[in-house]
Amino acid sequence: GLFVLPGAIDTHVHFNDKFMGTVSVHDYYSGTLAAAYGGVTSIVDFSNQIPRNPLSRTLEIKFKEAEGKAMIDYGIHPVITDVSSEILDEIPVIIEQGAPTIKCYMTYRSEGLMVDIPDLKKILEQLTDHGGMLLVHAEDNDTIETNIPRFISQGKTAAIYHAFSRPPQSEFKAILKCIKLTEETGGRLFIVHLSSDEGMEAVDSAQKKGHHVYAETCTHYLIFSEERLHQEDGIKWVCSPPLRNQTIQQNLWKGISDGRIAMVTSDDAAYSWNAKLMGQSRFDRCPNGIPGVEPRLNILYSEGVVKNRITLSRLVELVSANPAKLFGLWPRKGRIAPGADADIVLLDPQKKWTMSQKSLHMAADWSAYEGIEIAGKIEKVFSRGELIIDGNKCLARKGRGKYLHRRLNPEFIA
Ligand code: URP
Ligand code: ZN
Ligand code: ZN
Repeated sequence: GLFVLPGAIDTHVHFNDKFMGTVSVHDYYSGTLAAAYGGVTSIVDFSNQIPRNPLSRTLEIKFKEAEGKAMIDYGIHPVITDVSSEILDEIPVIIEQGAPTIKCYMTYRSEGLMVDIPDLKKILEQLTDHGGMLLVHAEDNDTIETNIPRFISQGKTAAIYHAFSRPPQSEFKAILKCIKLTEETGGRLFIVHLSSDEGMEAVDSAQKKGHHVYAETCTHYLIFSEERLHQEDGIKWVCSPPLRNQTIQQNLWKGISDGRIAMVTSDDAAYSWNAKLMGQSRFDRCPNGIPGVEPRLNILYSEGVVKNRITLSRLVELVSANPAKLFGLWPRKGRIAPGADADIVLLDPQKKWTMSQKSLHMAADWSAYEGIEIAGKIEKVFSRGELIIDGNKCLARKGRGKYLHRRLNPEFIA
């Protein structure tokens, strides 16, 4: 009576992430523990380049963080923040070391993360020449940098203005800019945390023209809408890109169902309640992000499969098969078959439960998912054949998680 599913893969998490004056509370122990309870057997974590440091440091830092702590297998996406000829020369080396997916931010200039268009093009060219893919946080920095001070000076400081300062158009504008780069270079581009229907259309039309452009959306865009930001505790849902209206949300559900969006990740960025409170009276000071590494599979089953928005096999594509294929983990991960890793989840479709900070296992002292009724419960999780979650017990040994040396497969990403 249980569903037997391949272990979920979450290719978008921020563990130990230093950001907006704080650091995320998920480390490689607490983050992978919560992931495992949520049926996730592999994660790929972002590692920001420290300015003037080589890209090799992004891997070294994460190897150290994972040592003695990771409970499930992990890969790394280096994030380039400081472009130079040395960094460009290092791209082929880092691809050889199993990290062929490099991310850049088109915004967050004040955080020292933004990369401009000419540099993005150079990075994309290097990645293309050496079998890599560029991941982009696509939001137009000019729009955001104009809107934020305008709202603040008008006393519009509540959480909802976070969303108004980063409208769907700002995502669309940024996506068009980077799609143009793929047209010019023939490069592979992946839009992380896509949140707008215009953005989705742009990705779809680029694909139809033969460009190698893919996108994910995240759990929170499917389950929450911008109404949450009007609440007294609206800062819980401050993330970027921001939550959108219900029409866009329904279109994103259609997009994940019909294939215009290839996969769903968590964008787990877990800041403590104290840290989130920095934004209570100034939305621009709220660390952007929602803890979400655990709820994704349960939410997509309960809100997606049970409510007939996606089929069960589409769910498996969205959280297991497609992340494995697009991010260089297939055929070892993302499927149940001889020769694969026996990462397996048993889900009981009959059980019902309520999500809350207490019933979940994430390390943040609050939850955006409080009170959500869930149909279906993960009963057991196996990682490489080993039972690591048995009902309410975690049996995994700290540090058993292994580094995933990834190589992109031209069969899936031309
Ligand atoms: O709000 C978000 N998404 N925080 C995490 C950092 C990022 O932009 O992915
Ligand atoms: Zn981002
Ligand atoms: Zn993110």
